[in-house]
Amino acid sequence: MGNTAKFEIDGKTVELPVLRGTDGPAVVDIRKLYAEADVFTYDPGFMSTASCESKITFIDGDAGILLHRGYPIMELAEKSNFLEVCYLLLHGELPSAPEFEVFEKNITYHTMIHEQFDRFFMGFRRDAHPMAIMTGAVGALSAFYHDSTNVNDPAQRMISAHRMIAKMPTIAARAFKYSRGQPFVFPRNELSYAENFLRMCFSVPAEDWVPNPVLTRAMDRIFILHADHEQNASTSTVRLAGSSGANPFACIAAGIASLWGPKHGGANEECLNMLTDIGTVDKIPEFVQGVKDRRYLLMGFGHRVYKNYDPRATVMQKTCHEVLKEVGAENDPILQVAMELEKVALNDPYFVERKLYPNVDFYSGITLRALGFPPEMFTVLFALARTVGWIAQWKEMIEDPSQKIGRPRQIYTGAPARSFVPVDKR
Ligand code: ACO
Repeated sequence: MGNTAKFEIDGKTVELPVLRGTDGPAVVDIRKLYAEADVFTYDPGFMSTASCESKITFIDGDAGILLHRGYPIMELAEKSNFLEVCYLLLHGELPSAPEFEVFEKNITYHTMIHEQFDRFFMGFRRDAHPMAIMTGAVGALSAFYHDSTNVNDPAQRMISAHRMIAKMPTIAARAFKYSRGQPFVFPRNELSYAENFLRMCFSVPAEDWVPNPVLTRAMDRIFILHADHEQNASTSTVRLAGSSGANPFACIAAGIASLWGPKHGGANEECLNMLTDIGTVDKIPEFVQGVKDRRYLLMGFGHRVYKNYDPRATVMQKTCHEVLKEVGAENDPILQVAMELEKVALNDPYFVERKLYPNVDFYSGITLRALGFPPEMFTVLFALARTVGWIAQWKEMIEDPSQKIGRPRQIYTGAPARSFVPVDKR
């Protein structure tokens, strides 16, 4: 492939530069197309469009590869920890031991939220979905931290990043406690990130939470698996919101709103509901027929980018087995349904032809339920973990010298220009 692509329309030829990244398909740079050929391109859903340049995450969907700053997700999940991955995503390199010590302290010592902030939760109905609370509460952070919202100041950008990573578990745990009608549990600085979060969720005044290293490690690994995933819907939402120079906390709230949908982060909740509705292995053929008749989707399957096994799903499946064994639920009928359904789908031409494989959400619901979370908390945990990815991508966008406000165009198919008709003449 050459260094330019030729675009021909109405006898006019426009030469467009071809850009190449470290890996992945070449990219035709169409920025000058409109100016030179007076045409737009049309790509709803961004099927063939790179919306930005990024150095954070790489996905090869055909090969089932996911790299963060070059490191395979499998290795990070096995050998690293969530805060180290946060540092990697934000700074581009793994931290040295002293760098990690400072970073860990920066995060774990800033987990408290303003006392006044707690009153904000009380405004929600007690049966509010925790994702509704998250969207509102994280947006409300923008009203609390006026000293870190100058997006043009690198130091303030980093303080905002630290604040969000540090405070997200506290807010997520409060959303959970509020929906349960239990008192809020305050963070403890000496605990690890995952341990602190689990304790804030599961400790009650009458009984402290008892740490379990297998479950804490599983929680940490689940956070790693969800930390970033290049330009997905919620990340693109954060970038687009942030491209106008908006308040960083408000941009993350926009990302949370996008994540909530059942085709994105909400799929883990929908997937567990689906497995529970199927209930027993003998109901699988009937369920699969319904998918093939296009009455509903097989949740936790399929991905815009992965046309092979999602590598996060492989780690999640292993974590699922470890957690269920630890809590004595290896024979959970829902796990049996999931394993059999996966086997059936992977051998059925309908799914094979469409390259539909399990995604990260297929086993995450079962695992999170075994950790003690109700389905409505699943997407909240995803949002907690994805916060670092959103912030790293937002920061990268602000620091990109070619950054412009995001402003797509359209094909207008509405009425042509016409004159206003007074109401008595319509
Ligand atoms: N079950 C059944 N059929 C499916 C599924 C599914 N889960 N996903 C895609 N298909 C089918 C489509 O009907 C379509 O078939 P057709 O060509 O005969 O019309 C074909 O596969 C291609 O699917 P598209 O919808 O065009 O793929 P797209 O890239 O737009 O969608 C998506 C990707 C949204 C993830 C989709 O696979 C889906 O809805 N999956 C279920 C929800 C889910 O698990 N989401 C989590 C994604 S991972 C994440 O966000 C963390």
